[in-house]
Amino acid sequence: MKGNQPSATAQRVAIRRAAHQLLDDPKVFDDPVALRIIGKENASALKADPHRFEATPLAPYLRAFVAARSRYAEDELFLGIQRGVRQYVILGAGLDTFAYRNPYPEGLLRVFEVDYPSTQTWKRALLEEVGIPLPGDLTFAPVDFETQTLEEGLRSAGYDSDKCTFFSWLGVTEYLTTEVVTATLRFVASTPAGSGVVFDYMISPSLLTPTQRSSFDALSKRVASAGEPWKASFDPELLAKDLRGMGFRYVGDNGPEEINARYFKNRRDGLRVGSLSHIINARV
Ligand SMILES: C[S@@+](CC[C@H](N)C(=O)[O-])C[C@H]1O[C@@H](n2cnc3c(N)ncnc32)[C@H](O)[C@@H]1O
Repeated sequence: MKGNQPSATAQRVAIRRAAHQLLDDPKVFDDPVALRIIGKENASALKADPHRFEATPLAPYLRAFVAARSRYAEDELFLGIQRGVRQYVILGAGLDTFAYRNPYPEGLLRVFEVDYPSTQTWKRALLEEVGIPLPGDLTFAPVDFETQTLEEGLRSAGYDSDKCTFFSWLGVTEYLTTEVVTATLRFVASTPAGSGVVFDYMISPSLLTPTQRSSFDALSKRVASAGEPWKASFDPELLAKDLRGMGFRYVGDNGPEEINARYFKNRRDGLRVGSLSHIINARV
Protein backbone atom coordinates (compact mmCIF):
# COMPACT_ATOMS: atom_id res chain seq x y z
CA MET A 1 0.00 0.00 0.00
CA LYS A 2 1.22 3.48 -0.84
CA GLY A 3 1.80 5.54 2.33
CA ASN A 4 -1.48 6.88 3.67
CA GLN A 5 -3.45 6.33 0.48
CA PRO A 6 -6.62 4.22 0.40
CA SER A 7 -6.35 0.98 -1.56
CA ALA A 8 -6.65 1.53 -5.32
CA THR A 9 -7.31 -2.18 -5.85
CA ALA A 10 -10.25 -2.02 -3.40
CA GLN A 11 -11.86 0.53 -5.69
CA ARG A 12 -11.12 -1.52 -8.82
CA VAL A 13 -12.70 -4.70 -7.49
CA ALA A 14 -15.71 -2.79 -6.16
CA ILE A 15 -16.21 -1.37 -9.66
CA ARG A 16 -16.07 -4.92 -11.07
CA ARG A 17 -18.76 -6.02 -8.60
CA ALA A 18 -20.87 -3.03 -9.62
CA ALA A 19 -20.33 -3.82 -13.33
CA HIS A 20 -21.44 -7.41 -12.63
CA GLN A 21 -24.81 -6.03 -11.46
CA LEU A 22 -25.27 -4.28 -14.81
CA LEU A 23 -23.64 -6.65 -17.29
CA ASP A 24 -24.37 -10.19 -16.19
CA ASP A 25 -27.66 -12.06 -16.30
CA PRO A 26 -28.16 -14.13 -14.26
CA LYS A 27 -26.05 -12.52 -11.54
CA VAL A 28 -23.82 -14.81 -9.52
CA PHE A 29 -23.62 -12.26 -6.72
CA ASP A 30 -26.64 -10.05 -6.24
CA ASP A 31 -25.51 -6.91 -4.43
CA PRO A 32 -28.06 -4.08 -4.33
CA VAL A 33 -25.50 -1.74 -2.70
CA ALA A 34 -22.65 -2.43 -5.16
CA LEU A 35 -23.35 0.55 -7.40
CA ARG A 36 -23.91 3.06 -4.60
CA ILE A 37 -20.76 2.20 -2.67
CA ILE A 38 -18.44 3.17 -5.54
CA GLY A 39 -19.53 6.81 -5.22
CA LYS A 40 -21.83 8.99 -7.29
CA GLU A 41 -19.36 9.84 -10.04
CA ASN A 42 -18.20 6.26 -10.73
CA ALA A 43 -21.78 4.96 -10.50
CA SER A 44 -23.04 7.44 -13.10
CA ALA A 45 -20.10 6.70 -15.41
CA LEU A 46 -20.73 2.96 -15.08
CA LYS A 47 -24.47 3.27 -15.69
CA ALA A 48 -23.80 5.36 -18.80
CA ASP A 49 -21.34 2.76 -20.11
CA PRO A 50 -21.22 -0.53 -18.16
CA HIS A 51 -18.16 -1.66 -20.19
CA ARG A 52 -16.27 1.52 -19.34
CA PHE A 53 -13.90 -0.17 -16.89
CA GLU A 54 -13.62 -3.46 -18.83
CA ALA A 55 -10.63 -2.50 -20.94
CA THR A 56 -8.76 -5.80 -21.35
CA PRO A 57 -9.65 -9.35 -22.49
CA LEU A 58 -9.03 -10.53 -18.90
CA ALA A 59 -11.78 -8.25 -17.54
CA PRO A 60 -14.73 -10.73 -17.75
CA TYR A 61 -12.66 -13.40 -15.94
CA LEU A 62 -11.75 -10.97 -13.16
CA ARG A 63 -15.35 -9.77 -12.86
CA ALA A 64 -16.53 -13.38 -12.65
CA PHE A 65 -13.96 -14.22 -9.97
CA VAL A 66 -14.72 -11.15 -7.86
CA ALA A 67 -18.45 -12.02 -7.98
CA ALA A 68 -17.86 -15.72 -7.27
CA ARG A 69 -15.60 -15.26 -4.25
CA SER A 70 -18.08 -12.88 -2.55
CA ARG A 71 -20.95 -15.26 -3.28
CA TYR A 72 -18.93 -18.21 -1.97
CA ALA A 73 -18.06 -16.38 1.24
CA GLU A 74 -21.66 -15.37 1.90
CA ASP A 75 -22.94 -18.88 1.08
CA GLU A 76 -20.47 -20.25 3.65
CA LEU A 77 -21.43 -17.56 6.16
CA PHE A 78 -25.04 -18.76 5.84
CA LEU A 79 -23.95 -22.34 6.65
CA GLY A 80 -21.77 -21.03 9.49
CA ILE A 81 -24.74 -19.26 11.04
CA GLN A 82 -26.59 -22.62 11.16
CA ARG A 83 -23.55 -23.99 13.07
CA GLY A 84 -23.68 -21.14 15.60
CA VAL A 85 -21.51 -18.42 14.03
CA ARG A 86 -22.36 -15.10 15.69
CA GLN A 87 -19.48 -12.89 14.53
CA TYR A 88 -18.46 -12.12 10.95
CA VAL A 89 -14.98 -10.68 10.45
CA ILE A 90 -14.35 -9.25 6.98
CA LEU A 91 -10.57 -9.05 6.58
CA GLY A 92 -9.29 -6.40 4.17
CA ALA A 93 -12.93 -5.40 3.66
CA GLY A 94 -12.33 -2.67 1.08
CA LEU A 95 -15.73 -1.65 -0.28
CA ASP A 96 -17.44 -4.91 0.75
CA THR A 97 -21.13 -4.13 1.30
CA PHE A 98 -22.33 -7.05 3.44
CA ALA A 99 -22.73 -4.93 6.58
CA TYR A 100 -25.06 -2.48 4.76
CA ARG A 101 -27.41 -5.17 3.43
CA ASN A 102 -27.06 -7.73 6.25
CA PRO A 103 -30.07 -10.05 5.73
CA TYR A 104 -29.97 -11.61 9.23
CA PRO A 105 -32.19 -10.50 12.13
CA GLU A 106 -30.84 -7.49 14.02
CA GLY A 107 -28.61 -8.53 16.89
CA LEU A 108 -27.85 -12.03 15.52
CA LEU A 109 -24.52 -11.32 13.86
CA ARG A 110 -21.87 -8.87 14.93
CA VAL A 111 -19.84 -7.67 11.93
CA PHE A 112 -16.23 -6.44 12.05
CA GLU A 113 -14.64 -4.76 9.05
CA VAL A 114 -10.87 -5.06 9.37
CA ASP A 115 -8.79 -2.99 6.97
CA TYR A 116 -5.86 -0.73 6.46
CA PRO A 117 -6.73 2.52 8.33
CA SER A 118 -6.56 4.80 5.27
CA THR A 119 -8.84 2.48 3.24
CA GLN A 120 -11.38 2.60 6.09
CA THR A 121 -11.29 6.39 6.30
CA TRP A 122 -11.95 6.59 2.55
CA LYS A 123 -14.79 4.03 2.77
CA ARG A 124 -16.46 5.93 5.60
CA ALA A 125 -16.33 9.13 3.54
CA LEU A 126 -17.91 7.30 0.57
CA LEU A 127 -20.66 5.87 2.80
CA GLU A 128 -21.42 9.38 4.00
CA GLU A 129 -21.33 10.82 0.47
CA VAL A 130 -23.95 8.36 -0.77
CA GLY A 131 -26.03 8.42 2.42
CA ILE A 132 -25.57 4.82 3.58
CA PRO A 133 -26.00 4.77 7.38
CA LEU A 134 -23.64 2.79 9.64
CA PRO A 135 -25.50 -0.23 11.04
CA GLY A 136 -25.45 -0.77 14.82
CA ASP A 137 -24.06 -4.32 14.43
CA LEU A 138 -20.94 -3.09 12.58
CA THR A 139 -17.56 -2.24 14.12
CA PHE A 140 -14.58 -0.93 12.13
CA ALA A 141 -11.25 -2.40 13.26
CA PRO A 142 -8.32 -0.50 11.71
CA VAL A 143 -5.43 -2.94 11.31
CA ASP A 144 -2.28 -3.01 9.20
CA PHE A 145 -1.65 -6.75 8.84
CA GLU A 146 2.03 -6.12 8.20
CA THR A 147 2.65 -4.29 11.50
CA GLN A 148 -0.10 -5.46 13.88
CA THR A 149 -1.54 -8.84 14.72
CA LEU A 150 -5.15 -9.50 13.84
CA GLU A 151 -5.74 -10.66 17.41
CA GLU A 152 -4.68 -7.28 18.86
CA GLY A 153 -6.75 -5.34 16.32
CA LEU A 154 -9.86 -7.42 16.95
CA ARG A 155 -9.53 -7.41 20.75
CA SER A 156 -9.42 -3.62 20.85
CA ALA A 157 -12.52 -3.51 18.63
CA GLY A 158 -14.51 -5.65 21.10
CA TYR A 159 -14.28 -9.02 19.35
CA ASP A 160 -15.36 -11.89 21.62
CA SER A 161 -12.85 -14.75 21.37
CA ASP A 162 -15.33 -17.25 22.89
CA LYS A 163 -17.82 -16.84 20.06
CA CYS A 164 -17.97 -18.94 16.94
CA THR A 165 -16.75 -16.65 14.12
CA PHE A 166 -16.70 -16.68 10.34
CA PHE A 167 -13.90 -14.85 8.51
CA SER A 168 -13.74 -13.83 4.88
CA TRP A 169 -10.50 -12.64 3.32
CA LEU A 170 -11.14 -11.78 -0.30
CA GLY A 171 -8.54 -10.40 -2.66
CA VAL A 172 -6.04 -9.71 0.12
CA THR A 173 -3.55 -12.56 0.68
CA GLU A 174 -1.63 -11.74 -2.52
CA TYR A 175 -0.76 -8.29 -1.13
CA LEU A 176 0.81 -9.68 2.05
CA THR A 177 3.92 -11.67 2.84
CA THR A 178 3.62 -15.44 3.29
CA GLU A 179 4.59 -14.99 6.97
CA VAL A 180 1.73 -12.54 7.60
CA VAL A 181 -0.77 -14.79 5.78
CA THR A 182 0.37 -17.79 7.83
CA ALA A 183 0.23 -15.92 11.16
CA THR A 184 -3.29 -14.66 10.40
CA LEU A 185 -4.51 -18.13 9.45
CA ARG A 186 -3.00 -19.57 12.63
CA PHE A 187 -5.07 -17.08 14.62
CA VAL A 188 -8.23 -18.10 12.72
CA ALA A 189 -7.41 -21.77 13.40
CA SER A 190 -7.32 -20.97 17.15
CA THR A 191 -10.94 -19.70 17.20
CA PRO A 192 -13.77 -21.87 18.66
CA ALA A 193 -14.94 -25.03 16.87
CA GLY A 194 -17.55 -24.23 14.24
CA SER A 195 -15.64 -21.13 13.10
CA GLY A 196 -14.33 -20.93 9.56
CA VAL A 197 -12.69 -18.88 6.86
CA VAL A 198 -13.07 -18.36 3.12
CA PHE A 199 -10.15 -16.76 1.30
CA ASP A 200 -8.68 -16.67 -2.15
CA TYR A 201 -5.04 -16.86 -3.17
CA MET A 202 -2.85 -16.68 -6.25
CA ILE A 203 -1.27 -19.86 -7.60
CA SER A 204 2.55 -19.80 -7.48
CA PRO A 205 3.83 -18.60 -10.88
CA SER A 206 6.15 -21.63 -11.08
CA LEU A 207 3.05 -23.86 -11.38
CA LEU A 208 1.49 -21.89 -14.24
CA THR A 209 1.55 -22.67 -17.96
CA PRO A 210 3.24 -20.08 -20.22
CA THR A 211 -0.19 -18.64 -21.22
CA GLN A 212 -1.31 -18.38 -17.60
CA ARG A 213 2.05 -16.92 -16.73
CA SER A 214 1.66 -14.11 -19.23
CA SER A 215 -1.77 -13.21 -17.75
CA PHE A 216 -0.24 -13.36 -14.26
CA ASP A 217 2.62 -11.07 -15.32
CA ALA A 218 0.26 -8.57 -16.97
CA LEU A 219 -1.99 -8.36 -13.89
CA SER A 220 0.96 -8.28 -11.53
CA LYS A 221 2.44 -5.33 -13.41
CA ARG A 222 -0.86 -3.48 -13.24
CA VAL A 223 -1.29 -3.79 -9.45
CA ALA A 224 2.38 -3.00 -8.83
CA SER A 225 2.00 0.24 -10.75
CA ALA A 226 -0.97 1.09 -8.48
CA GLY A 227 1.47 0.79 -5.54
CA GLU A 228 0.12 -2.59 -4.34
CA PRO A 229 2.54 -5.27 -5.56
CA TRP A 230 1.67 -8.95 -5.24
CA LYS A 231 3.74 -10.81 -2.68
CA ALA A 232 2.38 -14.18 -1.54
CA SER A 233 1.35 -17.01 -3.83
CA PHE A 234 0.84 -20.68 -3.01
CA ASP A 235 1.00 -24.25 -4.18
CA PRO A 236 -2.57 -25.58 -3.58
CA GLU A 237 -1.45 -28.97 -2.22
CA LEU A 238 1.08 -27.51 0.19
CA LEU A 239 -1.32 -24.83 1.37
CA ALA A 240 -4.05 -27.39 2.13
CA LYS A 241 -1.51 -29.51 4.03
CA ASP A 242 -0.34 -26.46 6.03
CA LEU A 243 -3.92 -25.52 6.90
CA ARG A 244 -4.59 -29.02 8.20
CA GLY A 245 -1.36 -28.78 10.20
CA MET A 246 -2.62 -25.53 11.77
CA GLY A 247 -5.65 -27.43 13.07
CA PHE A 248 -8.38 -26.76 10.51
CA ARG A 249 -10.58 -29.86 10.51
CA TYR A 250 -11.97 -29.34 7.03
CA VAL A 251 -10.10 -27.77 4.12
CA GLY A 252 -11.74 -27.43 0.71
CA ASP A 253 -9.71 -26.00 -2.16
CA ASN A 254 -11.74 -24.72 -5.11
CA GLY A 255 -10.05 -24.26 -8.45
CA PRO A 256 -11.70 -22.98 -11.65
CA GLU A 257 -13.43 -26.33 -12.37
CA GLU A 258 -15.15 -26.39 -9.00
CA ILE A 259 -16.04 -22.69 -9.07
CA ASN A 260 -17.35 -22.78 -12.64
CA ALA A 261 -19.38 -25.94 -11.96
CA ARG A 262 -20.85 -24.39 -8.82
CA TYR A 263 -21.75 -20.92 -10.08
CA PHE A 264 -21.37 -20.60 -13.87
CA LYS A 265 -23.04 -23.73 -15.23
CA ASN A 266 -25.32 -23.54 -18.30
CA ARG A 267 -24.85 -19.81 -18.90
CA ARG A 268 -25.56 -18.48 -22.32
CA ASP A 269 -23.02 -15.65 -22.04
CA GLY A 270 -20.04 -17.94 -21.33
CA LEU A 271 -19.06 -16.00 -18.18
CA ARG A 272 -16.59 -18.02 -16.10
CA VAL A 273 -13.56 -17.65 -13.87
CA GLY A 274 -9.96 -18.05 -15.05
CA SER A 275 -7.27 -20.21 -13.55
CA LEU A 276 -4.85 -17.95 -11.68
CA SER A 277 -6.56 -18.06 -8.28
CA HIS A 278 -8.31 -20.58 -6.03
CA ILE A 279 -10.80 -20.16 -3.20
CA ILE A 280 -10.20 -21.98 0.09
CA ASN A 281 -12.92 -22.88 2.52
CA ALA A 282 -11.47 -24.02 5.87
CA ARG A 283 -13.38 -24.89 9.01
CA VAL A 284 -12.15 -25.09 12.58
C1 LIG B 1 -8.18 -5.93 -3.67
S1 LIG B 1 -8.77 -5.14 -2.22
C2 LIG B 1 -10.06 -6.29 -1.74
C3 LIG B 1 -11.13 -5.63 -0.95
C4 LIG B 1 -12.34 -6.49 -0.60
N1 LIG B 1 -11.99 -7.63 0.20
C5 LIG B 1 -13.11 -6.88 -1.83
O1 LIG B 1 -13.10 -8.07 -2.19
O2 LIG B 1 -13.72 -6.00 -2.43
C6 LIG B 1 -7.46 -5.44 -1.05
C7 LIG B 1 -7.80 -4.96 0.36
O3 LIG B 1 -6.74 -5.38 1.25
C8 LIG B 1 -6.44 -4.32 2.12
N2 LIG B 1 -5.04 -4.46 2.54
C9 LIG B 1 -3.93 -4.59 1.76
N3 LIG B 1 -2.83 -4.62 2.52
C10 LIG B 1 -3.24 -4.52 3.82
C11 LIG B 1 -2.58 -4.49 5.06
N4 LIG B 1 -1.25 -4.58 5.14
N5 LIG B 1 -3.33 -4.38 6.18
C12 LIG B 1 -4.68 -4.28 6.10
N6 LIG B 1 -5.37 -4.31 4.96
C13 LIG B 1 -4.66 -4.43 3.82
C14 LIG B 1 -6.66 -3.07 1.30
O4 LIG B 1 -6.84 -1.91 2.11
C15 LIG B 1 -7.92 -3.46 0.51
O5 LIG B 1 -9.08 -3.12 1.20
